[in-house]
Amino acid sequence: MKIYVPLDSAAKALGADAVAAAIKAEAAKRGLEVTLIRNGSHGMIWLEPLVEIDTGTGRQGFGPVTVADVPALLDGKMASLGPVEEIPFFARQTRLTFARCGIIDPLDLADYEAHGGLAGLRRALAMSGPDIIKEVTDSGLRGRGGAGFPTGIKWNTVMEAEAVQKYIVCNADEGDSGTFADRMIMEGDPFTLIEGMAIAGIGVGATKGYVYLRSEYPDAINVMNQAVKLARQNRLLGADILGSGKAFDMEIRVGAGAYVCGEETSLLNSMEGKRGEVRFKPPLPALEGFMGRPTVVNNVISLATVPVIFEKGAAHYADFGLGRSKGTMPIQIAGNVKYGGLFETAFGMPLGELVNDVAGGTASGHPVRAVQVGGPLGAYMPPAKFDTPFAYEEFDGQEALIGHAGIVVFDDSVDMLQMARFAMEFCSVESCGKCTPCRIGSVRGVETIDRIARGDADAIPLLADLCDTMTDGSLCALGGFTPYPVMSALTHFPEDFATVKEAAE
Ligand code: NAI
Ligand code: SF4
Repeated sequence: MKIYVPLDSAAKALGADAVAAAIKAEAAKRGLEVTLIRNGSHGMIWLEPLVEIDTGTGRQGFGPVTVADVPALLDGKMASLGPVEEIPFFARQTRLTFARCGIIDPLDLADYEAHGGLAGLRRALAMSGPDIIKEVTDSGLRGRGGAGFPTGIKWNTVMEAEAVQKYIVCNADEGDSGTFADRMIMEGDPFTLIEGMAIAGIGVGATKGYVYLRSEYPDAINVMNQAVKLARQNRLLGADILGSGKAFDMEIRVGAGAYVCGEETSLLNSMEGKRGEVRFKPPLPALEGFMGRPTVVNNVISLATVPVIFEKGAAHYADFGLGRSKGTMPIQIAGNVKYGGLFETAFGMPLGELVNDVAGGTASGHPVRAVQVGGPLGAYMPPAKFDTPFAYEEFDGQEALIGHAGIVVFDDSVDMLQMARFAMEFCSVESCGKCTPCRIGSVRGVETIDRIARGDADAIPLLADLCDTMTDGSLCALGGFTPYPVMSALTHFPEDFATVKEAAE
């Protein structure tokens, strides 16, 4: 009998390690022959630890499982969820990037290959650099870190740059609140990221790659390090990738916990051992990046999506989505919801469907009041905007952004003035300090919102002016995008900014 218990950090936080140990002990006590596999998470966090048992007739899910449930689980007396892929939250997804996550043993290369792994790399190894870039361009893949810049154009810039050394840098400094897609794939299917980076390296002519991984993700760091070692041993990395004669190697670098180090130039400074401060652009990292050399800086999900594009073809990938938002997006649903987790779907699903239907509305049972999309720099969307399709241009048209596709849901107990204040405070704490609109503007922002809270209506236009200055004058997205949550809170929830004054009158 095979038993799967996730090694994913979210599952571990909910007791997966203790459940795995209890299964082992109980099986030994009973003399049961059990193969325990630590898989990735399927992304249904409310069911974690989600255990699967395969007695030879397919995998049956159980969850959430506690240590106390283990005897009943092994007795066959615990209620089954059925096959995991039939659970509605999972069944309605289109899993391309996350196709293997939760299914395979993350550190078993043979399992990876048996589920389609390496097919993309093998195809890419037979292609020229320009053909690899064309395939990525044709797929319509855009940067999944948040900015949505076309990946093919970025790769082309690096490919065409003349240099003795080029680099692939994977931005795994996933700092947005409510996001966990990067972590989940690194823990649940690390070879897909390694394969994507190898394809990128071969495409643009880079022989060295780095994953800049945040220190807050110790499990992901551990899995990635083991995966890189295994990849080297199996010639998926190194001087002679899969016998092709092409070279690419990579290593994991651990960040030190600054939000701004997720900004690409700040990340490069940090990797070079310098202070994590934003650099001026130009020059673009694509031309002068790590150690001044042409560098592809891509988010984990962008790179982890590359293998499936090469495995199934650009046209297959581009067939999903809406308008210029091609393919699928792993949406991370968090906050006050019944069913939180990772939901990969083609671009275009209306926000309201994601919140009310997929996520099942609020866990508290109170009405949804606001949804923040795109991390701490994303706008708050009221239910009136729930028909907005989840896609880049469509959110842009609503003065919002999808960012790294994190959705955080709030019920009617939320105070939107406090949320606006939090955005300014977050910016003031995390600011790298290089430019004035962000460094000083965010501090003045907190003070101005406090004036509004005290009933000073004159401070409202001042806040709007300050936001304009931050938008126009900040060097990077931290200062430049903080006005999104602030102004969306003020615009869509004006009643939260007026109550004290009205009460005073
Ligand atoms: P950006 O728009 O300045 O750049 C996007 C990317 O395209 C960069 O890599 C840039 O170097 C590249 N690029 C632009 N023109 C190019 C050209 N001609 N050739 C080659 N490459 C080119 O955006 P930025 O500042 O990199 O990212 C902002 C986004 O980051 C925001 O939308 C926000 O949602 C997101 N974000 C994500 C976080 C996360 O945890 N994933 C955290 C904070 C922000
Ligand atoms: Fe630094 Fe803020 Fe300016 Fe960005 S906007 S460069 S974080 S001071």
